[in-house]
Amino acid sequence: GEPLRVGLLGGGTVGSQVARLILEHGDDLAARIGRPLELVGIVVRNLDRPRPGLPASLLTTDAEGLVTREGIDIAIELIGGIDPAQDLILKAMSHGASVVTANKALLAAKGDELFGAAQHAGVDLYYEAAVAGAIPIVRPLSESLVGDEIQVVMGIVNGTTNYILDKMTAEGMDYQTALVQAQDLGYAEADPTADVEGHDAAAKAALLASLAFHTRVRGDQVHREGITGVAPQDIRAARGLGCVVKLLAVAKLLDDGQISVRVHPAMVPNTHPLASVKGAYNAIFVEAAAAGRLMFLGPGAGGAPTASAVVGDLVTVARNRSRGVVGPVQPMYNDHEVAPMGLV
Ligand code: HSE
Repeated sequence: GEPLRVGLLGGGTVGSQVARLILEHGDDLAARIGRPLELVGIVVRNLDRPRPGLPASLLTTDAEGLVTREGIDIAIELIGGIDPAQDLILKAMSHGASVVTANKALLAAKGDELFGAAQHAGVDLYYEAAVAGAIPIVRPLSESLVGDEIQVVMGIVNGTTNYILDKMTAEGMDYQTALVQAQDLGYAEADPTADVEGHDAAAKAALLASLAFHTRVRGDQVHREGITGVAPQDIRAARGLGCVVKLLAVAKLLDDGQISVRVHPAMVPNTHPLASVKGAYNAIFVEAAAAGRLMFLGPGAGGAPTASAVVGDLVTVARNRSRGVVGPVQPMYNDHEVAPMGLV
């Protein structure tokens, strides 16, 4: 059939891996979709930077031109942040394109507007890569477990901070050295403040809580404390008690029907499965009334793992599009109140 035309916003750590997967595995992806994909442009900030593997003919700095180009079927947004990502996504949708994004900060701040715009335009908005990199967790919560009553979602959802805490704990490395390593490995956000101050984890916790409890939770409703206050003596003290320090995200349904969502460093007993989550891995526990306890574990950050989730969404959206359908949007009934910050 006719190729589906894909525009890619972002040629950084994740974007370059997404482009590589689309270009190198085009035949396999076409077979899985039933139609070929055509990558029509890659938006980058700086055209002069060398980008091995990315065809120079596809590179452009004109994001708006790409998302509004005639015949664009799918826009992949990997530039992050609110502005101009929000505007570009809305423009892409109003021009009829479905959208795949990894932008947790944007979804946690503006989810209502974005999902509303997608429904209005009759297009898809998929974001598996926005939470915990390669780990499938958005689809399990919004589809596989949607018939169950979820009680708790809890885990480690930021790879950078887990990497830093792990290096400080296992190797006695200092905070700054570990942070620079996490940046060099492509785990950290463009501005690592979002990682170390817990904003990234809070955005992901808000998305997980929204899906689990069918209630829109915004990132700014999440009680948040990062890891910048964690000192080597805290890690030693935890060790003396048979514990490790981890940055946990917890979303819980309280007895009174409110939901509590928080992100903060916590002492985790060595015997607990979360204690052994190393490096930039993430792990998410889900407890549901009928299903019981489930754990999702895997690479939570980095170019190739995050690209895996992005391309999974791309194939899914492309399949929907070639059948002329849109995927399920999780309705938010908003039947729970979000508990005041700090209430556990
Ligand atoms: N900076 C994020 C992390 C990337 O470290 O987990 C994945 O969202």
